[in-house]
Amino acid sequence: MLGVCYYPEHWSESWWEEDAERMRSLGITHVRIGEFAWSRIESEPGLFDWGWLDRAMDVLAKAGLKIVLGTPTATPPKWLIDLHPDILPVDEKGQVRGFGSRRHYSFSAPVWIRESRRIVEAVARRYGEHPGLVGWQTDNEYGCHDTILSWGAHDLAAFKQWLRRRYQTPQALNEAWGNVFWSMELRAFDEAFLPNLSVTETNPAARLDFWRFSSEQVVAYNRMQVEILRPHSPGRFITHNFMGLFHDFDHWDVGDDLDFATWDSYPIGFTERFSFSEQEKIRYARTAHPDMAAFHHDLYRGVGRGRWWVMEQQPGPVNWAPWNPVPRKGQIRLFTWEALAHGAEVVSYFRWRQAPFAQEQNHAGLNLPDRTLSPGGLEAAQVGRELKEIGALPESKQAPVALVFDYEASWITRIQPQGQDFDYAEMTYRWYEAVRRFGLDLDIVRPGAPLTGYRLVLVPTLPHVSDAAHTAFRDAEGFVLFGPRTGSRTRTFAIPSNLAPGPIADLLPIKVTQVSSLRPGLSEPLTGAVQGKATRWREDVETRAGVQVHARFEDGNPALMSAGSHAYLAGWLEGQGLHDLVAWCLGQAGLEGLRLPEDIRLRRRGRYTFAFNYGNDPWNVPPSLGEIVLGKQQLEPGGVTMVSTQSLAG
Ligand code: GAL
Repeated sequence: MLGVCYYPEHWSESWWEEDAERMRSLGITHVRIGEFAWSRIESEPGLFDWGWLDRAMDVLAKAGLKIVLGTPTATPPKWLIDLHPDILPVDEKGQVRGFGSRRHYSFSAPVWIRESRRIVEAVARRYGEHPGLVGWQTDNEYGCHDTILSWGAHDLAAFKQWLRRRYQTPQALNEAWGNVFWSMELRAFDEAFLPNLSVTETNPAARLDFWRFSSEQVVAYNRMQVEILRPHSPGRFITHNFMGLFHDFDHWDVGDDLDFATWDSYPIGFTERFSFSEQEKIRYARTAHPDMAAFHHDLYRGVGRGRWWVMEQQPGPVNWAPWNPVPRKGQIRLFTWEALAHGAEVVSYFRWRQAPFAQEQNHAGLNLPDRTLSPGGLEAAQVGRELKEIGALPESKQAPVALVFDYEASWITRIQPQGQDFDYAEMTYRWYEAVRRFGLDLDIVRPGAPLTGYRLVLVPTLPHVSDAAHTAFRDAEGFVLFGPRTGSRTRTFAIPSNLAPGPIADLLPIKVTQVSSLRPGLSEPLTGAVQGKATRWREDVETRAGVQVHARFEDGNPALMSAGSHAYLAGWLEGQGLHDLVAWCLGQAGLEGLRLPEDIRLRRRGRYTFAFNYGNDPWNVPPSLGEIVLGKQQLEPGGVTMVSTQSLAG
């Protein structure tokens, strides 16, 4: 199904009916509204103007559109900030972040929590049972514009309480963090401070706890909204629109309180922002990198426990990346079908019409400011017609490969990179890409999730291995590969007493004795089952009895080793080396991959297999994949072919 984000408050009321009719005629079934409308809903403290929103909801509902209403907390209005300036967040340098855009609040300001409750309660009471309302979006993009960590007085006060709850006594805190180092010991929780504005590096254990605390504040804030919405809105779903390339809070935890996950897919902007090489950025400037959308689709399918939408789909050029090219012809259609192929229930475009005013004037919509369809709008209309013809899509099945994704791993490696380019986002993305190059589907799972049914489990790195994660790895049915730094830190950011890989050593008896980060230009060749060279990172590992070594570094030290169905990689691999590593793993797991051209991707949804062409050359879809349902056997650049088949990889 298709949806769209609409801002009735941006347009003359006389346009609403026609807008709604035209949405329907494009095949759009869902419309999200309201998430930035606080100043129009409550123009003065306590003075609510529901009239316009009542009428907008009625017009949309009358046209047969299903409404998703956003709670308007991403944009506290000016009067509220003037009344309570202590709502504003503070950046790491101690500077207050002011009014004038959005997300200007600290998750820990008590008055903000009170005001959020008040406005959420008010909209929930008013619209909770509106016949057109199918669900809620809490807030908008938690964390957008770097707004998870806030460094003000309210944040410190709440952090102190959090520390007290967690550690009970200052002695326990000192012990856990190793505060004896550099005389950082605290005599009371009241002496606790935020890990910023110091002369040099602050204690990594403190930073990790501050990150956990900040993440839990988001979870609590979201839960507060959910708990208000539920009783007022029986039978309606609650979701949140998460972001791409963003790891600053634990999305698995927030997802637990939602009915399903949604995310905002801007793959071309993300490609421009991601750590790709210049050549890749140029090559994929107008298509996005072939795994950019897909990676997040699979991540958020996991966060939503199988259920997810795209809440905001890029419909043309955006305004916020360093450069914002027009997407290649066909790309908006491709993105839409790709999301559906990965299991999206709804793909909703951002936004209905390009706004000729304010911050996002250069951001495309399905319509141009003059109320005619944009090129992206024409492509969306095409998908609308195609969907009508094809009908409901089957469920996604479990993939053969799981990739374990951990938000704490992102925090730990950012707090203590040790090598400047040890980038968790890049690492997980490249491992994912390497599997997809073989035409296989992946699920992205949280650490500790049961791994039953997966033939191959990839853990690019997991510095802190929790008991639950350890149990899941022990009980996994398939072949499990751990990447470097796995098990290298305890929960309190210390080196484990048995050294890395910590608890994993009882599955795979090895010990990491030294680690080396490698500046660009340095590399360590590998020989054996996997060739190529380690860049960025390598480890020296001692193996015990029962460990088989499959590849070695030039100095003879083990690079790839296994015991039973658990394996460990002692370096950072990329390019051909990573490709060979995945090929080796597929062999160990008894999985067969396809040799696909570099820019072709496949994805299965039930009996259908979809093929997407991100490249510049046509590709002949092998007839063995199934019978054509949509598109052609010859898959043109930018094209989509859908065939009906059984899973190849199962
Ligand atoms: C998203 C946001 C939208 C809009 C969009 C522009 O991050 O949720 O409100 O700003 O980006 O691409």
